[in-house]
Amino acid sequence: MAYSEKVMDHFMNPRNVGVMPDADGVGEVGNAKCGDIMKIFIKVKDNIITDISFQTFGCGAAIATSSMATELAKGKSVEEALELTNLAVAEALDGLPPIKMHCSNLAADGLRAAIYDYKVKNGMSTEGIEVCS
Ligand code: FES
Ligand code: FES
Repeated sequence: MAYSEKVMDHFMNPRNVGVMPDADGVGEVGNAKCGDIMKIFIKVKDNIITDISFQTFGCGAAIATSSMATELAKGKSVEEALELTNLAVAEALDGLPPIKMHCSNLAADGLRAAIYDYKVKNGMSTEGIEVCS
């Protein structure tokens, strides 16, 4: 199976790439399958994710899913963003080849880790947020 046009678009022109020095939350996750690393940075104001960026040392599918995940998360409330699954991200990209589905975990996991970090830093409850270390 080839990559969808949307995957190619987000791979060639990834949105929201870069480090955010003044982020309210930073999530870093590694992909157990391939060893690749993802960092997600979020800015939160009044419980809304107002800005988000990512940095990845991952493959093309990881780049495309991160790019799409940041677009989907931006403007959402923290609770809505927590519900973003890797499957939803892959669907927004019109699918990924099955062998590349694990790559999409990085984006959703990284986002959850960033929200977890934000909550810890602000003394909020992290109950129910699952992050892998
Ligand atoms: Fe692989 Fe979480 S990213 S276990
Ligand atoms: Fe590692 Fe895709 S092969 S994230």
